[in-house]
Amino acid sequence: MNVLVTGGAGYIGSHTCLELLNSGYNVIVVDNLCNSNPKSLERVKALTNKDIKFYEGDVRDEALMCRIFTENEIDCVIHFAGLKAVGESVAMPLEYYDNNLNSSLVLTKVMRKFKKQNLIFSSSATVYTADNEMPLRETSRTGYCTNPYGWSKYMSEQIFSGLAAADENWSICLLRYFNPIGAHDSGLIGEDPRGIPNNLMPYITQVAIGRRERLSVYGNDYDTHDGTGVRDYIHVVDLAKGHVAAVKYATEHKGCEVFNLGTGTGYSVLDMVHAFVEANGVDVPYVIADRRPGDIATCYADPSKSAEVLGWKAEKNLQDMCRDSWNWQSKNPQGYGE
Ligand code: NAD
Ligand code: WQD
Repeated sequence: MNVLVTGGAGYIGSHTCLELLNSGYNVIVVDNLCNSNPKSLERVKALTNKDIKFYEGDVRDEALMCRIFTENEIDCVIHFAGLKAVGESVAMPLEYYDNNLNSSLVLTKVMRKFKKQNLIFSSSATVYTADNEMPLRETSRTGYCTNPYGWSKYMSEQIFSGLAAADENWSICLLRYFNPIGAHDSGLIGEDPRGIPNNLMPYITQVAIGRRERLSVYGNDYDTHDGTGVRDYIHVVDLAKGHVAAVKYATEHKGCEVFNLGTGTGYSVLDMVHAFVEANGVDVPYVIADRRPGDIATCYADPSKSAEVLGWKAEKNLQDMCRDSWNWQSKNPQGYGE
């Protein structure tokens, strides 16, 4: 079976390509490399001893997408391609709406044209409103996003669920990721953010390796067990395996379904720092700073629907996540850039 992976050279995409290849799927990637390095795919090929057909280009390029569907029999598409930095989306809303919405529109237009209508989409826990009870279920309230990135995910979900409602040939899984961290245990592929990391774990690993002086912990006066923000961190390899389960599901069922991909357990910022220090025996100096605008106190998933319907459950624990994040960072101090 052939799976087209848009954005497959990126952090979650490269880990998913690896799990797909190891599960016997053929993988075709389209990526414009705007936030990734082709070395990630070279390393996936080396790790699996399998080939990946790579198209360097933009998902918004309709002619290119038609060429890909003409040259390959595509059984399922996983759509990772998009811009993902929340703060940047506030500064550059047009770029975010253009990339994240037009890629979804062009992709689905081409899929319909070629009658290849099995789709897995990278959505985000960010689509849930801030006033929900925890844990978040797929039926929890969505919308009222606080930034263009979140709106672009929310709107893409609307586009996809509308397509499935209008045409029974679609089979769509909307996967809402919680906080992916960690790396493949080989240490050969991992997260390689450009510039100053926005997310907690890459910031921690860059402090530990000496690229940054200290971590700023954004607020210690939240209503949580130690006052710092609580999130549902999920190992990227578990997340990648969730996509393999979703591909199987989408090729066997019609309609549109939403799934949370999280562990169901929340850890605070200080839990993460302490677990990282303990797992790896390295120092992570930190200071308590002001709250980051737009942050909420607590966010974690109820992942039971994914377990029941997809037969998927996260298996790795916090120690695995901290160890594998550090293994990647310490083996690749400058990411893929070396
Ligand atoms: P990433 O930036 O590492 O990967 C995205 C990939 O898409 C990159 O390789 C980039 O070059 C490519 N790309 C972007 N726009 C493109 C376009 N128009 N055409 C072709 N390629 C394009 O990000 P990631 O962390 O791997 O995230 C993958 C997806 O998951 C994104 O859609 C993101 O919004 C979503 N997501 C990520 C997180 C997270 O915390 N990492 C959480 C929830 C959802
Ligand atoms: C986690 C916790 C911070 C950095 C974001 C997006 C979300 C999704 C995942 C894509 C929070 C604290 C962080 C730092 C800190 N991405 N923190 N110091 O905000 O939960 O989610 O990434 O869809 O849409 O919003 O993740 O890793 O940025 O923050 O104290 O330097 O760590 O305040 O409590 P977040 P994060």
